[in-house]
Amino acid sequence: MKKDNKHIDTRLGHLGLDPMSNYGIPNPPIYRTSTILSSSFAQHRGELPKPYTYGRNGTPTSAAFEGAVADIYGAESCISTPSGLAALTTALLAFTKSGDHMLFPDQLYGSTRRFVTNMLPMMGVEPEFYPARIDGDIWGYIRPSTSLIFVESPGSLTFELQDLPAIVKAARGQTKTANPITIMVDNTWGTALHYPVLQLGGDVVVEAATKYICGHSDISLGIAAASGMHGKALKQTAKNLGICAGPDDLYAGLRGLRTLRLRLEQSAANGLYLAERIEKHPLVEAVLHPALPSSVDNTIYTRDFSGSCGLFGFVLRKEMSQERLDKAIEDMEIFAIGDSWGGYESLVKQAHYEITGRSFAKTHPEGYLVRLYAGLEHGEDLWADIDAMLASLGTS
Ligand SMILES: Cc1ncc(COP(=O)(O)O)c(C=O)c1O
Repeated sequence: MKKDNKHIDTRLGHLGLDPMSNYGIPNPPIYRTSTILSSSFAQHRGELPKPYTYGRNGTPTSAAFEGAVADIYGAESCISTPSGLAALTTALLAFTKSGDHMLFPDQLYGSTRRFVTNMLPMMGVEPEFYPARIDGDIWGYIRPSTSLIFVESPGSLTFELQDLPAIVKAARGQTKTANPITIMVDNTWGTALHYPVLQLGGDVVVEAATKYICGHSDISLGIAAASGMHGKALKQTAKNLGICAGPDDLYAGLRGLRTLRLRLEQSAANGLYLAERIEKHPLVEAVLHPALPSSVDNTIYTRDFSGSCGLFGFVLRKEMSQERLDKAIEDMEIFAIGDSWGGYESLVKQAHYEITGRSFAKTHPEGYLVRLYAGLEHGEDLWADIDAMLASLGTS
């Protein structure tokens, strides 16, 4: 298929496929290998071209998935990693050098925060956190040694947005450092379908493909995509570190792309429907979802995103004991207690703001912070489950 000018949904159905070089079979084979033989000694020495040299360095299976992801992000290249966190750490290492100062949002995903605070200083990098909501004021945080600004919008657990175009403008226009500042975005919430971060000026996009791309709660996979020297740095770092994803997981990722739109839209619609209903409940102090018209982030959301996803939070008034909340959540019929998101099934967890070690004051009111992931079930059934849970909290 000539992919130019085709809509992203059409491309999602065809990327990474080459049936006529595969006996007419549409789906590509899963290549499980470490060894890749050479046809001659000269080829083995690298004197003749050889598209694939060693399993860890890439196979047609990884090329199919990575090429497809690069396409939907509008990037020149992509790496795949055995988890979303590995994509984040590999991408950060690709741009790490001793003496650098790097900026991170306060609501950074907890495991990324652990890497940033535990490991970057060991490499001579000084990480600094900036407030969860920021725009061109990021300028005030830039120093002569600033090499990277990281964006996670919306952020984990509390869902504040950063103004990416304003951050890009401030970083590109600044004169404090002679070196260009790399802008890296964790786009797991927005995905390539709803938040075009590279087109908005980001240099590197990272996504936990574990979530919506794979979509069935059974795979750990990550991607990082970029163009030009950023793309080259990603590839070289993944090679240096020996980072490679397993072939079956790559195949699952490629297959997930085919239905990404349908799953994402159903989950996002369920999430927004629930957020709107939860917002009206008297026990609820606030709903943390940038797509809600009442959200302070809604202006940026409407400008930069073309859709949301099923993950959001809400704050319950502390009018009941923790034990009572525990019982109400445990009694839920559909929402299961668990981490992760982007799969088919709805999940609930309690978020402990205090133990995530944030640097700035809370952006949300006092109360129990609950995170919901709306899966692919029927929205009415999901609401009935939440309604019953909230009702049980209001009765003695
Ligand atoms: C925003 C965000 N980024 C990255 C990750 C890491 O993904 P993985 O679990 O595949 O390492 C997660 C996981 O929950 C996440 O929520």
